[in-house]
Amino acid sequence: MQHPSQRLHEREVDGQPRDLPELVRTQPAVRVVVHQLGLTRHEVAQVDAQLRRLSDREGVPKLRSDLDLDPELLAKLADDRLQIGLTGLDLAARELPETGQGRGLGAAGGQHRPVPDQRRPDDPHQLHERQTRGVHPLLSSQLAAAQSLLPDDVFHYYAGGAGEQVSLHEATGAWSAVRLRPRVLRDVSRIDTSLELLGTRLATPVLVGPTAAHGLATPAGEVATASGAAAAGSLLVLSTRASCEVEDVPAGPWWFQAYVMRDREQTLSLARRAVSAGASAIILTGDVPYLGRRHGKSRLDLLGPAAPETQQDATAGLEAIGELIEATGLPVLVKGILRGDAAVACLDAGAAGVVVSNHGGRQLDRALASAHALPEVVAAVGGQAPVLVDGGLRSGLDVLCALALGADAVLLGRPVLWALAAGGADAVESCLRAMTEDLSHVMGLAGARSLDEVTRDLVHAP
Ligand SMILES: Cc1cc2nc3c(=O)[nH]c(=O)nc-3n(C[C@H](O)[C@H](O)[C@H](O)COP(=O)(O)O)c2cc1C
Repeated sequence: MQHPSQRLHEREVDGQPRDLPELVRTQPAVRVVVHQLGLTRHEVAQVDAQLRRLSDREGVPKLRSDLDLDPELLAKLADDRLQIGLTGLDLAARELPETGQGRGLGAAGGQHRPVPDQRRPDDPHQLHERQTRGVHPLLSSQLAAAQSLLPDDVFHYYAGGAGEQVSLHEATGAWSAVRLRPRVLRDVSRIDTSLELLGTRLATPVLVGPTAAHGLATPAGEVATASGAAAAGSLLVLSTRASCEVEDVPAGPWWFQAYVMRDREQTLSLARRAVSAGASAIILTGDVPYLGRRHGKSRLDLLGPAAPETQQDATAGLEAIGELIEATGLPVLVKGILRGDAAVACLDAGAAGVVVSNHGGRQLDRALASAHALPEVVAAVGGQAPVLVDGGLRSGLDVLCALALGADAVLLGRPVLWALAAGGADAVESCLRAMTEDLSHVMGLAGARSLDEVTRDLVHAP
């Protein structure tokens, strides 16, 4: 096994593998983000003390740390319990305004912020993300950067889930529980992750799911997200609750997410505008007859009270699918599917596909994890239409498991918001590229050269 200090030399920084000494030389400031994955209090104290000593010795804002961490300490900490992410602060500062809480860090003003305290025992989402094995290191460091850069209320609005957050917390672990049956001795020197989805050629099956209000993460909002997604050969699904107008979405493939609102005409006219602006498919979100209940910090409604006519129409039924098809002429996929019979009903009503999702645990708490619902939905759909899935996907392995269980593509929610907050369009691109590269790596290890070869027999059925 590689020595942990060796690994640190090869850390990815904004998606590019970078040599740490070179990084320290060339960046105006280097922030070190330590994810304490289940360390004992004593170990945490040791790491913190080391960082503080190093910070004093080296002076701010340059914080050379990892290389100087005591190799013995690093060796003692299990590989999977300590991750250190590095963020070039000039990157974050370029993308974020100079003022405001937690923003405009470092580079411009030469101001060093102390290493943020990553321990938030009161924040179950954070603990969950950090304690879950197998989150891609770049995603981990983007999450940590976003947490330190975003105002607290925005962070919790993005991070939170409904109720006791049971579904939120189960999502990633459900993917980790899948076991694979790799093929061996095949030529896997070339791996192809490209696909065609509803007529669009994409470099990756990792898409950006619809999430509201990207303008809270960075002023450019969804415009930055769409550019980052397109640059990575992916696409953005623009939320009805986006911070920008549909007409502002830059060129490149994108889809539009619709809610059935009380004012049906408003729903349809927004969807028609999206078509004129270049959307090539519609995702109709079916699991929000009304909003799920969120408690504590994640209850904050940063979008403000919606006007009654823009609120969800709880009377909506399957006829909404046909209405959207008629209004837009585009394929309509239904999102929020967790049952085979629901998928079949939507396809019978004209849907072009379904998205298996529990809305990132933000609607009905204790709803089934999408990893557990996926096989039933795939079996019911029987290959007649694309099946997409989202919820808790945080690594190439998670994506591989989803594809092997029969998904045609996956959607990321929160990881893209963290990337956007950490470094705008470039970081979104890096996030998607890192997930795709990770997928490509594990496809090769599993003996699959193309997405066609990621088939159900790769999954061990106990
Ligand atoms: C902050 C936030 C806002 C969201 N807004 C929407 C939305 O406007 N429309 C929608 O269909 N889903 C929305 N979702 C759900 C996501 O599309 C997706 O189902 C979920 O985030 C996937 O899980 P993940 O965040 O674990 O990747 C939102 C999720 C989050 C975290």
